[in-house]
Amino acid sequence: MSIVFHEQSKTFHLYNQDISYIIKILPSGHLGQLYCGKAIHDRPDFDRLFETCPRSMSVCYFEDDPAYSLEHIKQEYATCGTGDMHLPALDACTPDSSRLLDLHYQGHAVTPGKPVLNGLPATYTEQDDEAETLSVRLADPLAGVTVTLFYTIFAQYPAIARHAEIGYTGQGTLRLDRAMSLCLDLPDMDYEMVELTGAWARERHVVARPLAQGVQAVYSLRGCSSHHFNPFLALKRPDTTELSGEVYGFSLVYSGNFLAQADVDPYHVTRVTMGIHPQNFHWKLAAGETFTTPEAVLVYSDRGLNGMSQTFHQLYRTRLARGVWRDKVRPILVNNWEATYFDFDEDKLLGLAAEAKKLGIELFVLDDGWFTNRNDDHGGLGDWEVNTAKLPDGLKGFGEKLNAMGMQFGLWIEPEMVNPGTRMWQEHPDWVLHQPGRRPQPGRNQYVLDYSNPAVVEHLYHHFEALFDGVPLRYIKWDMNRSISDAFSCAANPDTQGEVLHRYILGVYRLYQLLTDRFPQILFESCASGGARFDPGMLYYAPQCWTSDDTDAVERLKIQYGTSFVYPVSSMGAHVAAVPNHQVKRVTSLTMRANVAIFGAFGYELDLTRLGDHGQELVTRQVEFVKQHRQLLQFGTFWRLKSPFAGNETAWMTVSPDRQHAILADYRVLQEVNVGYRRLKLAGLDPDTLYRVTPLGSGMAVCGPVQEAFGDELMHAGLVTSDGSCGENKSDEGDFLSRLYLVDALPQ
Ligand code: DGJ
Repeated sequence: MSIVFHEQSKTFHLYNQDISYIIKILPSGHLGQLYCGKAIHDRPDFDRLFETCPRSMSVCYFEDDPAYSLEHIKQEYATCGTGDMHLPALDACTPDSSRLLDLHYQGHAVTPGKPVLNGLPATYTEQDDEAETLSVRLADPLAGVTVTLFYTIFAQYPAIARHAEIGYTGQGTLRLDRAMSLCLDLPDMDYEMVELTGAWARERHVVARPLAQGVQAVYSLRGCSSHHFNPFLALKRPDTTELSGEVYGFSLVYSGNFLAQADVDPYHVTRVTMGIHPQNFHWKLAAGETFTTPEAVLVYSDRGLNGMSQTFHQLYRTRLARGVWRDKVRPILVNNWEATYFDFDEDKLLGLAAEAKKLGIELFVLDDGWFTNRNDDHGGLGDWEVNTAKLPDGLKGFGEKLNAMGMQFGLWIEPEMVNPGTRMWQEHPDWVLHQPGRRPQPGRNQYVLDYSNPAVVEHLYHHFEALFDGVPLRYIKWDMNRSISDAFSCAANPDTQGEVLHRYILGVYRLYQLLTDRFPQILFESCASGGARFDPGMLYYAPQCWTSDDTDAVERLKIQYGTSFVYPVSSMGAHVAAVPNHQVKRVTSLTMRANVAIFGAFGYELDLTRLGDHGQELVTRQVEFVKQHRQLLQFGTFWRLKSPFAGNETAWMTVSPDRQHAILADYRVLQEVNVGYRRLKLAGLDPDTLYRVTPLGSGMAVCGPVQEAFGDELMHAGLVTSDGSCGENKSDEGDFLSRLYLVDALPQ
């Protein structure tokens, strides 16, 4: 890994064994983009990659050079009023109402390691030699604006982390109206844009569309990263597959409103920008103040989409997630939500926990409904006082009872909301996001607390600190169940209302930081009506997230497949739920449900007391299996093999770092009749190693012939997975079939 500055050609080359990123200080002093992609040799200059072209209608930077137009020169951080006609990276308004900004190179520094982003989640290094950071200072003295662009290249990953710091040195105040984290001009448009889209209960479905001239974007204006779009986009070549070809992945380490877009110009330059959504974002800077954008992470892969995802997985799992749980296998839990909803008392919960303990489950999560006035979703949020009618000995007593039976204790909270009628709502009406005189709008019967107000965050910290103190808690599920619409803070000035939504997220991050610092042993799982805040920002504080409120195994194939584009298996909360499934009413076998959920932070969410003998036996075996293999399941290298978006079958596998062991999963949604032969090509194995492949069926029992083959044979000729029944299905398996295969290296 290296960051080289070629003085003569004024060129920066950031490179490691996989990626090169080349920037040039242009003759005009602007920062130009020359190349981003597969690693190439370093050279004293790359000036042949700097293109200018005289084109009609262009605005030219110099009087005597009709070819030098910033409309056509690829740049690193474009602004308004310099001749660039595209959507800029930075748009700011000076006190004289000018938006003209002309940023010129002032200086740069290269430092080992990676700087911390104050108050914001970001990737990090543990040793200085893991990464190097280039910071380039730009300024427009007339406007009084300074911009420092940060680029970190990691030694081990084809990844560049970027953010910007914007400062003001002028009179009065500067107003930022758009401050992107990343701006990258790529020289062609021969890409498909891959995005993760959906809605509640069908998050992160994979969609790809060819780029066309103009803007294509994903975004959130909901105050959270949202079910609907994820703060991610990828540009892949049309022939790129899961296993081969070029792709650029862009991921924003942020949990609030975002914009990620590809803007293609008439000459096929593709400008990718990513950052806080400019809608209702206005940030004031007085002289001497700076604004730090969230971090955006760019990953390059020439090993297909799996290559991109594996880089994100490793980077985010080990250098974004933090804390004692980062590298630990996750406890197998049972959550009472779908088992009881609000209808429980302590006896019922302890009965469930006792059953769970018998089956080998390790942690009991008490979900919504444990506090006063919370027998449905109309009350209680804001006061969070233990309902002693349900839990006579409080949280501490309940936790101790669980511990006495050998179960760990986990608890659900929703600390960002308040219900009307609660004491908090009566005593602090100004703590609700709303405009005085205008009725706040409810969502799930609740209002949003003003996390942009530090006093609210302080109060909540002390409340939860006192609530958790002395309670034997091992796990917290932090939920958030509505979008934010009334983005108005009673604590803000008229001219800082445009800061409220970003300050809200900074407040969420602050409370997470305070609580995780105070209770480092607690495993936090983030949640927002399922996966409405499944984003890298949350991962920094909570190493796992409830992936979706949809617990149906078939739906989960798509949700977990899409989620794995960016997020590691260890981060995906995945539970075996009851049938008929509560969201889609589908009936799938316990085996199918477990075989999907084991590729995640595994647990159960159903009434275990109703399993019956056979069900209990299956669950016991599933739990044993996960305990035995969870290091590999949660931390192995994950490979997607067959997409649920392409057909009836899904397949994926996880491989140990030494390639000695793998677990393959093959799912078929609908039974087919008399179909052709099938071979499933595996990935990630050592071609020269001989493996034994053991199929596992219901109860994790061996269910067919054990095959032996070298890694190359399994990867190129494939594993035979044909269904030989030819329409006279002799087994009792029909729809929703799943098979696991243990793949183990044989001694040489
Ligand atoms: C939404 C979550 O996604 C569910 O898992 C559950 O915790 C409910 N909220 C509780 O209200």
